[in-house]
Amino acid sequence: MSEALVLIERRGRVGLLTLNRPKALNALNDALMDELGAALLAFEADPDVGAMVITGSEKAFAAGADIGAMKDWSYADVYGSDFITRNWETLRRIRKPVIAAVAGYALGGGCELAMMCDILVAGDNARFGQPEIKLGIIPGAGGTQRLPRAVGKAKAMDLVLTGRLMDAAEAERSGLVSRVVSADKVLDEAIELATVIASMSLPSVMMAKEAVNRAYESPLSEGLLFERRQFHALFATEDQKEGMEAFMTKRTPQFKHR
Ligand code: CAA
Repeated sequence: MSEALVLIERRGRVGLLTLNRPKALNALNDALMDELGAALLAFEADPDVGAMVITGSEKAFAAGADIGAMKDWSYADVYGSDFITRNWETLRRIRKPVIAAVAGYALGGGCELAMMCDILVAGDNARFGQPEIKLGIIPGAGGTQRLPRAVGKAKAMDLVLTGRLMDAAEAERSGLVSRVVSADKVLDEAIELATVIASMSLPSVMMAKEAVNRAYESPLSEGLLFERRQFHALFATEDQKEGMEAFMTKRTPQFKHR
């Protein structure tokens, strides 16, 4: 049997997914994206998982969509198979938080995959970029849309139109990543962060993610109304009673995730 393209592990309440095509710098082909999608959905359905981490190797998170696989495709091939939407969009459907632990290259589809995650933690050797322009194409998995939302139009244009790479310090400065640590610590840091999130009440975590994402999709008044309704809804959970009771009696809450 061939080796798994995505390694699947559990660390407490955290589901860990490691992209595993090291020789190709984790270039993202159809088979890998199918495996990743299936693993994400399995963690999503598992009540004992509260958050997920996607990582790569120390040299590459992922160097993009697989150029070798794509190079001879025609318009009919990519349109007909709905290339990218078909198995890349699974990550968008995941309602639990997903953290990208990025060391090394996160380029093209690799950068886009990281940006589909909710939080990016970077190693100090991380390099982000959308170099598709150098291949005679443009980003196709959300790069032209998510990058400007994360770093602003000027820097997104600079990166997308030149294909230049951005280091971890620039990525942190511009708001793409939330934390930078040394490359050998990036996975530990991401798992620690995911463990903290997974220790919170799952309904409140999921509603918080949904509400923050609304900030990108709706006018302020709609987003505020959505947030208010989610806030109200959480008063129907056992965990809200437990969280507030624990605070009042000065003890650690024991969330039941319902
Ligand atoms: N697709 C397929 N194979 C890739 C790849 C990719 N995106 N990126 C790297 N590889 C392969 C290389 O072909 C090479 O394979 P061989 O050993 O069999 O020759 C192996 O990984 C190692 O790569 P390099 O020898 O090039 O390593 P390097 O350290 O010299 O350079 C790099 C590293 C700068 C990341 C370079 O590999 C590179 O530029 N990769 C391509 C980056 C890119 O253009 N990504 C965008 C792809 S298009 C896309 O993603 C579309 C979309 O929006 C979804």
